[in-house]
Amino acid sequence: MFRRIEQTGSDSVTVRIDNREFQVPAGISVAAAVLLCGFRKVRNTPVTDSPRLPYCMMGICFDCLMCIDGVPNQQACQVEVRDNMAIDYQRGAAELLQQE
Ligand code: FES
Repeated sequence: MFRRIEQTGSDSVTVRIDNREFQVPAGISVAAAVLLCGFRKVRNTPVTDSPRLPYCMMGICFDCLMCIDGVPNQQACQVEVRDNMAIDYQRGAAELLQQE
């Protein structure tokens, strides 16, 4: 479905998606990394438990909500991958975190 245009000399980072390690190109979004690694869902909806994938890739649809480095409700299309990042599915509605 998605194919990345190859770039020579680009760096890569190691991310852990659903507890599996992957090498992905540096500088791409978490949503792009998840799609590039072949995952077919990023979250389940709270009401019907339907699987969702990133749709707009530009911060509008909110279908890409994931838990990134332990923080739920992150828009995966708006977050750049970092080395050793932990990326997990979001199952249903996540609890809101208190800001300190
Ligand atoms: S894919 Fe639409 S907001 Fe992230």
